[in-house]
Amino acid sequence: MSVVDLIERKRNGGALTPAEWRDLMARYGAGDVPDYQLSALAMAVYFRGMDDAEIEALTTAMLESGRTLDLAGIAAPRVDKHSTGGVGDKVSIPLAPMVAACGVAVPMMSGRGLGHTGGTLDKLESIPGFRTRLTLEETAAQVARLGCALIGQTAEIAPADRRLYALRDATATVEAIPLISASIMSKKLAEGLTGLVLDVKTGAGAFMTRLEDAIRLARTMIALGERRGCRTVALLTDMDQPLGVACGNAVEIAESIAVLRGGGPADVREVTFALGAEMLVVAGVARDREEARAHLHRAVESGAALERFRAVVVAQGGDPRVCDAPEAVLPQAPIREIVRAERAGVVQRVEPRTIGRAIVALGGGRTRVEDGVDAAVGILVHVRPGQALAAGDPVATVLARDAAGAAEARTAFGRALVIGEGIPPMRSLVSHRITGQGVEELPGPVQR
Ligand code: URA
Repeated sequence: MSVVDLIERKRNGGALTPAEWRDLMARYGAGDVPDYQLSALAMAVYFRGMDDAEIEALTTAMLESGRTLDLAGIAAPRVDKHSTGGVGDKVSIPLAPMVAACGVAVPMMSGRGLGHTGGTLDKLESIPGFRTRLTLEETAAQVARLGCALIGQTAEIAPADRRLYALRDATATVEAIPLISASIMSKKLAEGLTGLVLDVKTGAGAFMTRLEDAIRLARTMIALGERRGCRTVALLTDMDQPLGVACGNAVEIAESIAVLRGGGPADVREVTFALGAEMLVVAGVARDREEARAHLHRAVESGAALERFRAVVVAQGGDPRVCDAPEAVLPQAPIREIVRAERAGVVQRVEPRTIGRAIVALGGGRTRVEDGVDAAVGILVHVRPGQALAAGDPVATVLARDAAGAAEARTAFGRALVIGEGIPPMRSLVSHRITGQGVEELPGPVQR
């Protein structure tokens, strides 16, 4: 069957057989199918979707296009978390050592920031010396020794996804649920996990702005995991405003260390503990979420979680003094300016995309995959929806490299912050729990 026939069939609403998907991706990997044909097919999928058998076949084809992490020799359950991304989402950084300190092996594989969202790898690399490019063998050895590694996707994992993702990024076909599901799960299933917890973000700063799309994305990924024997659970969490106070790179490391020390903003703590509890239950080291939370609290209060993070920093070449005095070790922005409320009122919205884009404009994020990032810059958000303000109250701190950057970020923050009258509707921070059995709405809303 020619590729043109396959594109035409998908364009007309038909399905490709699993064998056709396998063959197509193998030919694409071998360089026998040009990018323009795969782009056309991605656009046809964007409009027509894929059925379950097609999504399964594409996931398998991308997974099998590369190598997998061999953790079979590790006796402990192997569980990772994946977030669909947002602004201020630093949860992976405290979460991985907390869960590892409770006896679970956590091969945490993260990405770089792209567009308005930040990336865990960029944040980690703001720790002087920290290396995120570990080989699969180094990763397996570190997970066996310390129960945890914080790494990037190596070139060997799902290379077909890497190429297809770059095409989708350039052809406005990222936001297709079947393609996102196959992309994420091909990489996660390559980690040799026994369990996976998905953090699917919803709201203005997320890929999925609508609740029903977020639920559909979660269910599609769960089905892919469960069919391969990887217990998969998803939490839907709010990304209608930035998570926590710190948005940037180095500042998010400092906030993560605060969480590991038992402090940090309440919303970051809650999302971290909620996801961590699911990881411990999926791993089978806790009977239920209540018991799991107690384990996690003990890991933090005893200092075991922070010590696990310190061991990971040392193993990956970073400066361990970051655990004791983050501000002394992490890069600091030369300009620090407080932004003040222009009028009195009640905070209605703190728009995350505008803040994410302002951080990119400051140099703290990237618009192209090959760009570098400035670790020191960022924005500290001091307000939450529902908070009453007097004119002149501090609402944010801008961390900039120069005066022009600071001025631009101040203006952007002014656009992101909506002050009005009355209490806005409050959103639930962790709104739904989704498993193979169904969707459970969690009690809320939660005032932050
Ligand atoms: N993250 C991925 O890894 N793939 C997607 O398609 C979207 C987000």
